[in-house]
Amino acid sequence: MRTLLRALVAAALSCLLPVLSLSTALPARAAADHVYDFEDGTTQGWSPRGDGVSVAVTTEAAHGGAASLLVTGRTANWHGASLAAPFVKGVTYRVSAHVRLAAGQPAATIALTVQRTPAGGETTYERVAAGTVTDGAWVRLAGTYLFTADSTDVQLYAESDDPTGRYHLDDVVLAPQGDPTREPVAADFEDGTTQDWSPRASATLAATTEAAHGGARSLAVTGRSASWDGPALNVLGRLGKGDQYQLSVWVRLGAGTDSGTDSGTDSGRLGLSIERRTAGTPSYEQIVPPTDVPAGEWVRLAGTYTLSRDVDFLSVYVESEAGTFPFHLDDFALAYVAPKPIQTDIPALKDRVPFTMGSALTRPDTFGVHGELLARHFSGITPGNELKWDATEPREGEYAFGDADDLVAFGERHGMTIRGHTLAWHSQTPAWVFEGADKRTLLTRLENHVRTLVTRYKGRIAVWDVVNEVVDENQPDGLRRSPWYEITGLDFIRTAFRVAHEADPAAKLFINDYNTEFPRKREALYALVKRLKAEGVPIHGVGHQLHLNIEQPPASSVEDTIERFAGLGVEQQVTELDVSVYTDFVSSYPTVPDELIAEQGHRYKELFDVFRRQAAHLTSVTVWGESDDVSWLNTWPITRLDAPLLFDRELQAKPAYWGVADPSKLPPRVRRLEAPAGEVVLDGKRDQQWDLLPDAPIARVGEVSAGFQARTTAAGMYVLAEVADRSVSAADRVTFTVNGVARTVTRLGGPKAAVRPTPTGYRVEALVPKGTDVDVTVRDGGTAVSWTGKVTPAPAVKLTTAAHRAPVLDGVVDPAWRAAPEIRTGTWIQGTSGATATVRSLWSGSTLYVLAQVTDPTLSEESPNAWEQDSVEIFVDPGNGKTKGYTDDDGQYRISFSGRLTVGGTFDAAGVKDNLKAVTRTAPGGYVVEAAVALPTATLKPGALLGFDVQVNDATGAARTAAVTWNDATGRSYLDTSHWGVLRLA
Ligand code: XIL
Repeated sequence: MRTLLRALVAAALSCLLPVLSLSTALPARAAADHVYDFEDGTTQGWSPRGDGVSVAVTTEAAHGGAASLLVTGRTANWHGASLAAPFVKGVTYRVSAHVRLAAGQPAATIALTVQRTPAGGETTYERVAAGTVTDGAWVRLAGTYLFTADSTDVQLYAESDDPTGRYHLDDVVLAPQGDPTREPVAADFEDGTTQDWSPRASATLAATTEAAHGGARSLAVTGRSASWDGPALNVLGRLGKGDQYQLSVWVRLGAGTDSGTDSGTDSGRLGLSIERRTAGTPSYEQIVPPTDVPAGEWVRLAGTYTLSRDVDFLSVYVESEAGTFPFHLDDFALAYVAPKPIQTDIPALKDRVPFTMGSALTRPDTFGVHGELLARHFSGITPGNELKWDATEPREGEYAFGDADDLVAFGERHGMTIRGHTLAWHSQTPAWVFEGADKRTLLTRLENHVRTLVTRYKGRIAVWDVVNEVVDENQPDGLRRSPWYEITGLDFIRTAFRVAHEADPAAKLFINDYNTEFPRKREALYALVKRLKAEGVPIHGVGHQLHLNIEQPPASSVEDTIERFAGLGVEQQVTELDVSVYTDFVSSYPTVPDELIAEQGHRYKELFDVFRRQAAHLTSVTVWGESDDVSWLNTWPITRLDAPLLFDRELQAKPAYWGVADPSKLPPRVRRLEAPAGEVVLDGKRDQQWDLLPDAPIARVGEVSAGFQARTTAAGMYVLAEVADRSVSAADRVTFTVNGVARTVTRLGGPKAAVRPTPTGYRVEALVPKGTDVDVTVRDGGTAVSWTGKVTPAPAVKLTTAAHRAPVLDGVVDPAWRAAPEIRTGTWIQGTSGATATVRSLWSGSTLYVLAQVTDPTLSEESPNAWEQDSVEIFVDPGNGKTKGYTDDDGQYRISFSGRLTVGGTFDAAGVKDNLKAVTRTAPGGYVVEAAVALPTATLKPGALLGFDVQVNDATGAARTAAVTWNDATGRSYLDTSHWGVLRLA
């Protein structure tokens, strides 16, 4: 809130005071050549130098084109034509000009000279180039020019040793040699000036000897009007887009400022920020967030920054977190950080896969090393934002294609296949599109938009994501309730495809969506595509976004999806692949553990194994960004460090790259599995004990795959292998190796083991010695799949039962509840005593009922946070998937003692938010919660197992002072379903 307010105030103020920031002395980038050819009929800034001189554009002579500048009326050597030169301090220029004398003039020496006045010094005259010139030919004069002291009145002029000679001047070129974006910027205030620093608002800046970090002086900043008011340096032109810079500055509190430990908590905190404006709209970014500056100490604020946008204003400044206290600033430095070169000794990804290897990109990615990486490894691109509606038609009929054109041209330059993303979506679509729109209007707007885009890129964009994310498997008809749908039903889809097809009949038209690897979404999309195809809608392909994470879902479910759609006869593409290192939307690593990065490599390998196997159905696989530093997951769903792609932040190959390009180079994989206490009968049957948890998947190689589990018992460790292998052979076998000791069980059996055939293969149960280092290898002739990792003992997974009856939902404990067994919360996740509950469950139809009788004599809802109020939480996973992170029908259902309901789930909890109903009543010494949880995604039937847990939060005043669960001891039930207990339906 404060940041927003501050930004608004700063924006308002800096609009009032533009001069303060814009007039500061650092120059605009001078990367482009300055050319004066006089072809437009004007003198292009050249003016007479000397009394009586005149300059005029003439066609009497021309070096290039039709016109030149004629200089007449001279009466002194130094008379001539002169230009207020755009030379920038510290930048070297190549200067060249063409000169020829007017007809009839005798030969003379013409010189190009710079006149300038250094700060506090005498005017200087520096010759840049000179030569003998006649009226018979054009002569080229050329030289280099550089000045390094602050100067005013910098003039470039042409003079002649013939005081009255008339001459023509043409094609003057001033070409900057040094690139200002590569030149360091520094300030030390040793010269007693503010060295181009100026206040953001009304602060006073002065070089002072009161304090100095290095040398004798620093910049004193006093009289600040707001926390964001203070010293700023204009760095427009000094930062190249897409380039990285290191910035550093020393700060110290001004005299009389305490560091805020007793008065106000943050008055001594200073940070380094940047303001950039694009088309007048400001954005503020922190390079170094406000940092403690203890009184009397110099503190260095240092960080890196990459400019990603075209800007017309760019300013670095120091601000405080709060307060207007004075401070000192010294030894500022800004320097370009040369990027690590991309690796050129590794295989190009596109040469290693049997389909188009694509990457999403945005405009800054086409520059520098990012552009090189894209060109080297990828044969396809998808503009990440530049073709979306907000970018291409921000106002009705006003199209903007600048960035999109650039990206399409980039793709064409590199012979890449271009995916157009996307024509109709509910997101990144300007409000005007839906404003006041009835069905006809909206479809007309859509038709115009689609026709304009597809026509513009006809023959150049090969594939279009015509509609994006239109499926919602939680709706009865499987269609997302977007404004598109609300206003037009399915007609927006029909219209978009029809018009796109008319505009470019050769383009492949796709429907694109996420989570298509999850069965319910897969089926909803399948039904829609089937229906549209049956209607004759020109839909050619299905795009699977595949935004995955390090745990979920397994590669096998991706394969199931591709196989399912193969049956529809549509082309398929993977359109937005990335693998987040996070399984929830709140966690954040300061640095991502190496073990996860290695695991991710194996995950990419398994995925690409699937893609290669399914290559007949798959024409392209696109990753959503070429390197971790540009991934959208660094800011979605929250700002955090993520590393979901194939190349790291320095554009070097990660294990993920090797997982795609050459899995033999992957680091070893170390998997982890818990072996809860548990008893099983060694008979080859799948005991209920095994069903309490899912099997850890061992991914498919050839036609073999397997699942694995373990249980700890006094006598050793029970292990289970569920093998999918349809072809029976004497060589089929499973080897369990524990702490180096191997036990092999063939398909026919083995010692202390039981084997049984299953519909898809066979099941092995065995009792092996306890141990933590475990390898399970399943062999089928020459093919082997294995699981290698650490197995750790864990407490038994609790199991309870829901009786098959329905209660009356009124907070009264009616007799129906007696049919259900009672469980108690006793696993403390905060504190060791406090409110607890006895809990019973019933089920009927597709509803689960839970009764919690809570012992809690003092009740409070004082905290604004629901989890810090006296409340009961019920955790339900209809599929008992035991996933780290919630999948979309996993729910956290919270009921406060007074009956307030809150529901948690995946990021938007869309699949579960309407599932909960509850009635509460206070009772002597506590309260009663009677809840009904609808489970529309599951078909409940006797014997089904649900992931299930209960938690009681105990509040004292506005704080939670204790919390206890039934099964999950991790305290992470709200993020992670893998440690919930199990509920069996009777
Ligand atoms: C993302 C872009 O990468 C971000 O830069 C932007 O801020 C939000 O959109 N599914 C899609 C993509 O279809 O368009 C989204 O791209 C990522 C999710």
